[in-house]
Amino acid sequence: MEPVVEQLTQEFCERMRAQAGTPVAIEEEFSLLTCSIICYLTFGDKIKEDNLMPAYYKCIQEVLKTWSHWSIQIVDVIPFLRFFPNPGLRRLKQAIERRDHIVEKQLRQHKESLVAGQWRDMMDYMLQGVAQPSVEEGSGQLLEGHVHMAAVDLLIGGTETTANTLSWAVVFLLHHPEIQQRLQEELDHELGPGASSSQVPYKDRARLPLLNATIAEVLRLRPVVPLALPHRTTRPSSISGYDIPEGTVIIPKLQGAHLDETVWERPHEFWPDRFLEPGKSSTALAFGCRARVCLGEPLAHLELFLVLTRLLQAFTLLPPGDALPSLQPLPSLQPLPHCSVILKMQPFQVRLQPRGMGAHSPGQSQ
Ligand code: HEM
Ligand SMILES: *[C@@H]1O[C@H](CO)[C@@H](O)[C@H](O)[C@H]1NC(C)=O
Repeated sequence: MEPVVEQLTQEFCERMRAQAGTPVAIEEEFSLLTCSIICYLTFGDKIKEDNLMPAYYKCIQEVLKTWSHWSIQIVDVIPFLRFFPNPGLRRLKQAIERRDHIVEKQLRQHKESLVAGQWRDMMDYMLQGVAQPSVEEGSGQLLEGHVHMAAVDLLIGGTETTANTLSWAVVFLLHHPEIQQRLQEELDHELGPGASSSQVPYKDRARLPLLNATIAEVLRLRPVVPLALPHRTTRPSSISGYDIPEGTVIIPKLQGAHLDETVWERPHEFWPDRFLEPGKSSTALAFGCRARVCLGEPLAHLELFLVLTRLLQAFTLLPPGDALPSLQPLPSLQPLPHCSVILKMQPFQVRLQPRGMGAHSPGQSQ
């Protein structure tokens, strides 16, 4: 995965360089980047040749946006409401149709050009395992419909999650120019100042301990999927002495665990150094844990590392004016217009000041 992430991140930095000095809404840029990465990994880099990314990005954004609209979320809570006229639901169904059209077309093209024992991307990889068409649904075997929905899961799960984490990292670094400066010093020390062509490969990430600690701290304070996904107990169970009957829906509050004072010192403070203590491993749960842990955790870590390395190597992040972006997440159950399952920030902008030539020091404006 690393060459794909590296290539797309480099192109992202070039786009950012073209806008250097003027305030950019970096959230959207991160979404486009993470969306491209997961599309390339799932469908292969032929989507570049065919220039499909703009249409794919638009479609995935449309699904995410229509789905998070309150008029849809409320149908999830009160299913009976689906019998009433609901323009939101109609828009969602249209978006899903377009999504399925894209995935089906990719499936068809992949099947036509598939070579046994070889794979160019994740869709090829999954198709290799598909059972004969004669096998029936419910047999426990992998069927084409599974590959279709697994691709959808990757596209939906792999876009806003990482993009939002990257945006939170930028917001925190705007509030903590001293940490940003130390991160850049760490990079310069490892790579030589202004060395824009060299990079630290992901396997050597231990060479950048402060960056690693900063990523861990951003994930602790802003686990972007704070309520994970709903689970259901398959048999009677208990937790901390409370009985939980079979069939109970469980919604873990990951963020609660991350702010527990009995585990974390000064839990509300952004303090990456807490992870620099030798032998200190993170007990944070931003990706959930065990059997249903986030499937994309390794990819997300790779993306966070490479994007932040590249970004901080090339630019100093500065607030667009005197005001710093808010650290308050948008209320997660806000009624209008979008109630997101993702911990989002208020819209913000950042100014990217190219590094390497002269001016070095990060934001003084605090
Ligand atoms: C910083 C980025 C990310 C965070 C914080 C995150 C967090 C999570 C969490 C909390 C869950 C639910 C775990 C549970 O059910 O208890 C989850 C599930 C999942 N995530 Fe992520 N995720 C991230 C990135 C990604 C990426 C990049 C992908 C795609 C490659 C992805 C794909 C998935 C999938 C497919 C599941 C469902 C797994 C299952 O139920 O077996 N995620 N993620
Ligand atoms: C990165 O930091 C986390 C959290 O402290 C730690 O568990 C992990 O071992 C570190 N990884 C590397 C490569 O240093």
